[in-house]
Amino acid sequence: MKITFYGHACLGIQIKDIHILVDTFISGNEKASSIDIESLKADYILVTHAHQDHTLDVEAIAKRTGAIIVSNYEIVAHYKSLGLEGHPMNHGGSWDFEFGKLKYVNAIHSSSFPDGSYGGQPGGFIIEGEHKNIYIAGDTALTIDMKLIPMQTKLDLAILPIGDNFTMGINDAILASDFVECDKILGYHFDTFGYIEIDHEVAKRKFFDKDKDLMLLDIGESINL
Ligand code: NI
Ligand code: MN
Repeated sequence: MKITFYGHACLGIQIKDIHILVDTFISGNEKASSIDIESLKADYILVTHAHQDHTLDVEAIAKRTGAIIVSNYEIVAHYKSLGLEGHPMNHGGSWDFEFGKLKYVNAIHSSSFPDGSYGGQPGGFIIEGEHKNIYIAGDTALTIDMKLIPMQTKLDLAILPIGDNFTMGINDAILASDFVECDKILGYHFDTFGYIEIDHEVAKRKFFDKDKDLMLLDIGESINL
């Protein structure tokens, strides 16, 4: 499993020859200007919630690639009404896709489209694929529901928001990694806007002091699990 950071909360996940994008927000992110959105491959686009900083490029990429949009029922219904392909889910539900098993899990946040229309309830994803299990938290507060995850899934990586203000900050993300029982963390949802700027060294040290590994990737950088 190869994971690429495209800035903010946008990820590319490659499992075998299947390309998955998560929360595509690139054209509106000045910090991600090095990413050529036209060159991104997508068989699936996962959407955690409807906010613009997670959905801005969904329509354009799905139109170009024919990718299947996977999200909550309301978000998928929105994109289907635009003529795009989608697979609706809701909290607690799993589905066996060609890349592996995907579960839509709880997040504590909000989820409206930029025009204010209803975007269902926000969520996160657990992907079990190629013998690796990852948790993509989405925008969320620390929530006790995270403790349910390790009861069924042994995670290899937890992707957690760490920028504070709109989501968990560093200290809550450390507790979240305890809750999900995974000490390997990829941080996201930081630095994009003034409200969520963080000190990288302080963040890494705080995790390190708890015997945890916080990875912060450059935009366009990848890791292999
Ligand atoms: Ni949000
Ligand atoms: Mn967000």
